Amino acid sequence: EKGGHDYFMLKEIEEQPSAIADTLRGHLVEGRIVLDEQRLSDQDLRDVDKVFVVACGTAYHSGLLAKYAIEHWTRLPVEIELASEFRYRDPVLDRSTLVVAISQSGETADTLEALRHAKEQKARVLAICNTNGAQIPRESDAVIYTHAGPEIGVAATKTFTAQVAANYLVGLALAQARGTKYPDEVVREFEQLEAVPQAVEEVLESLGAARALGQELAPSKAVLFLGRHVGFPVALEGALKLKELAYMHAEAFAAGELKHGPIALIEDGLPVVVVMPSPRGRAVLHSKLLSNIQEVKARGARTVVIAETGDETVKPFADHLFELPQVPTLLQPLVATVPLQVIAAEIARARGYDVDKPRNLAKSVTVE
Ligand code: M6R
Repeated sequence: EKGGHDYFMLKEIEEQPSAIADTLRGHLVEGRIVLDEQRLSDQDLRDVDKVFVVACGTAYHSGLLAKYAIEHWTRLPVEIELASEFRYRDPVLDRSTLVVAISQSGETADTLEALRHAKEQKARVLAICNTNGAQIPRESDAVIYTHAGPEIGVAATKTFTAQVAANYLVGLALAQARGTKYPDEVVREFEQLEAVPQAVEEVLESLGAARALGQELAPSKAVLFLGRHVGFPVALEGALKLKELAYMHAEAFAAGELKHGPIALIEDGLPVVVVMPSPRGRAVLHSKLLSNIQEVKARGARTVVIAETGDETVKPFADHLFELPQVPTLLQPLVATVPLQVIAAEIARARGYDVDKPRNLAKSVTVE
């Protein structure tokens, strides 16, 4: 049931702390990261020399974040690819390639076919999936299940944040196998992940403003989203939610691209959502994004800024400000996505649309 909410998606947004906590639970055993199903040996994991991540839609956005984490922790090269493109371009795969297939349903045809192609080329395949016994985990060499519970809303919310947590477990498992992180560092990273559900709770407590903003932005024709580094996938996910739910033109850009074209789109009153990096963790990127906010504001944009709490520098340029608890850089997407989910759902609701069942979309896409 909707648990007193107007639509399932809101309930599912609020379930994110437990979705993340349940996904992490049981994966640190005696100081070591363990997967759910593992038909790969430690040696197989040590032999990995390249990682591909394949997924669609929201799962793809979570996969973009996997790239940042896995490269940072393991120094392995990671490529992320839309599953529907992967097997049509002859990717370079062999038995030391690990292909991570991310799928909430575990039945997405594009992702399944990408996985099968990878296996034909002898690559090892690891699945991240929310559905026990689905086809994608069944055909994989190793699995991490996200424990988000069933997701009724067609638009993915809690399964996204759970996927991000699971992706990070993959990164830590690889770092552990390769020895690129000391065991105590792996434990520390895991403990930081375990603290995320509390941070998401804090964000959820202050969502009244996001709901009100949704109402206010409902008449807009389009919304742009800007982010950099791990804030870029967050921007992409915010834009996808808005397209799916509110049928609104929404586009996300890596903010450094603004000056290479998209700035021409800025006009009076256009809402621009900016996902700010931490001024502590990412000072250089922070100052560049601060300039971007000023640039779009000077051209009449209505700025919606998602920033770390205590970031005073953004205040003069933010028409609307959402403050996030301070968390390590790689974990910021897990908190920053939440207000964007709510804003999209509320815009849709204000426009009179069915938030749980957007037009033309199916929860599971089993055709290529
Ligand atoms: O079940 P999957 O995770 O494989 O589904 C992938 C996409 O179809 C899915 O994320 C889709 O983009 C959602 N509607 C996003 O809200």
